[in-house]
Amino acid sequence: MNFQQVFGKPPETEASAPGRVNLLGEHTDYNDGFVLPTAIPQSTTVQLGFSSDAQHHFYSENLNEQVSISDINHQPSGFASYIFGCIELLQKAGYTIPPLCVYVNSSVPMGSGLSSSAALEVATLRALRQLLNLPIDDVEIAQFAQQAEIQYAGVQCGIMDQMASSLADTEHILFLDTRTLERRVMPLPEKAEILVIDSGVPRTLVSSGYNQRRAECEEAARSLGVKALRDITDVNVTKILPEPLQRRARHVVTENNRVLEVLQGVTSERFGELMNASHASLRDDYEVSVPALDRLVEILQKTEGVFGARLTGAGFGGASVALVRSGESKGIATHVLEQYNQAGYNGRILVPSLGLSDAA
Ligand code: GLA
Repeated sequence: MNFQQVFGKPPETEASAPGRVNLLGEHTDYNDGFVLPTAIPQSTTVQLGFSSDAQHHFYSENLNEQVSISDINHQPSGFASYIFGCIELLQKAGYTIPPLCVYVNSSVPMGSGLSSSAALEVATLRALRQLLNLPIDDVEIAQFAQQAEIQYAGVQCGIMDQMASSLADTEHILFLDTRTLERRVMPLPEKAEILVIDSGVPRTLVSSGYNQRRAECEEAARSLGVKALRDITDVNVTKILPEPLQRRARHVVTENNRVLEVLQGVTSERFGELMNASHASLRDDYEVSVPALDRLVEILQKTEGVFGARLTGAGFGGASVALVRSGESKGIATHVLEQYNQAGYNGRILVPSLGLSDAA
């Protein structure tokens, strides 16, 4: 079903936004720290038209589901909550949003840690900006999108995903200082490309585990007398903390230092080592990995042509990211998936995206 078939008329406008994969700097953004994401080729498209009644109507092509909202006090769940959140936040900021027909179609894998929700929020806000000529820039779009996630989806997330979806492209890495929002567009490491493989293990307990980690970091920062863990650069300072706060803080401090090392300029080999160290830190200190991801990452790290690999996104399941020699990602993926799936898992390659046109 397309927009015309669902709503009986063509859309007025449409906009898209990509998912993202984070190469380094995990669980640092809500600590005012540093991140290095890039956009992935898969994206979400939102088409908009004016509603002919007083209700908003949202349709998801992927879910084949329609949600109509008549009572503005009744907050929807699922995909509609993100769109509803964006509309509500714009209204609260003083913009008048008329009743709308919204049609969503996405090729961003859901539940793999590639920010399908940020892509939906940013695409929705871009389409609204176009339709209503809203004077908001790309950074403000990311900020509204982050608030939609926090206030309407209940995840106390940082701003990395929404900034990546709003500002990154697939050819570069986006270095972002999440405190100042200062950013730098950097080339991918030399003679390297990105491989993303889904572990096939759906993410569980993401929001509860995530919000708990965030609370632990805030407690650690309070105990150390700093505004955020970003303000600690010497890992030895964290030794006075009780466990598990010490391990959590150690991850954040070492992870920020890894990102800052990349900013100085590193080889692909060194970039890979930093990714491997990041995975160990996420597994042992931050405790957001799962056995399947550890297995997948271990196989990747042992494979010829792989510079480094780690889990990506919040963890608790989802995808791995690897930096591999240029032109070798598909061959490496085949080899890795053979071993991984033999161990009883159901992994699949997500980037480079095979069959993107089928999914779109
Ligand atoms: C999720 C959040 C981000 C970030 C990552 C972990 O993707 O939405 O803000 O915290 O987890 O790095």
